[in-house]
Amino acid sequence: MRRRQLLGVALLIPLEGLAQTCGVITPRQTEGPFFRTDTPKRVSLVEANFRGTKLVLEGQVLSPQCKPVPNALLDFWHADDRGAYDNKGFRYRGHQYTDAQGRYRLETIVPAEYPGRTRHIHVKAQAPGGRVLTTQLYFPDDPANARDFLYRPELAMKLATRGEATFDFVIDA
Ligand SMILES: [Fe+2]
Repeated sequence: MRRRQLLGVALLIPLEGLAQTCGVITPRQTEGPFFRTDTPKRVSLVEANFRGTKLVLEGQVLSPQCKPVPNALLDFWHADDRGAYDNKGFRYRGHQYTDAQGRYRLETIVPAEYPGRTRHIHVKAQAPGGRVLTTQLYFPDDPANARDFLYRPELAMKLATRGEATFDFVIDA
């Protein structure tokens, strides 16, 4: 009996290992000092009179089992093309929900660096009824990444072409 129990435990370990390799939960990062609540619901943050470089960010929100998470909340905020945050209004701030396949699409601009920080996009991601995951996304190959102690390569977006990026979130769902 004891021998059989041990065998069962031994068999469970590889299965659990497999499940973990599917989706590693997106690392959390500080929200920083510029988060604001009650952002507008919108998929485009691009203003009529925008300056800078347009950026389209697309991807999926997935569970640790790699299942799409529909109706997940994504709340984005970032600095403008001069490295400044809008702390009175909602420029470059907005939230949206993933579709039935867990997909999202954000239209915005490339934020500028500001003192001490490489280019980054702040985001809060949350499955319906789930825990909020706060993190930041980065631009790969940005020379300033090496000087930013918060930069993590796991949080770098994949740049398909200039102005088009992808990032998949893995969150508790
Ligand atoms: Fe920031």
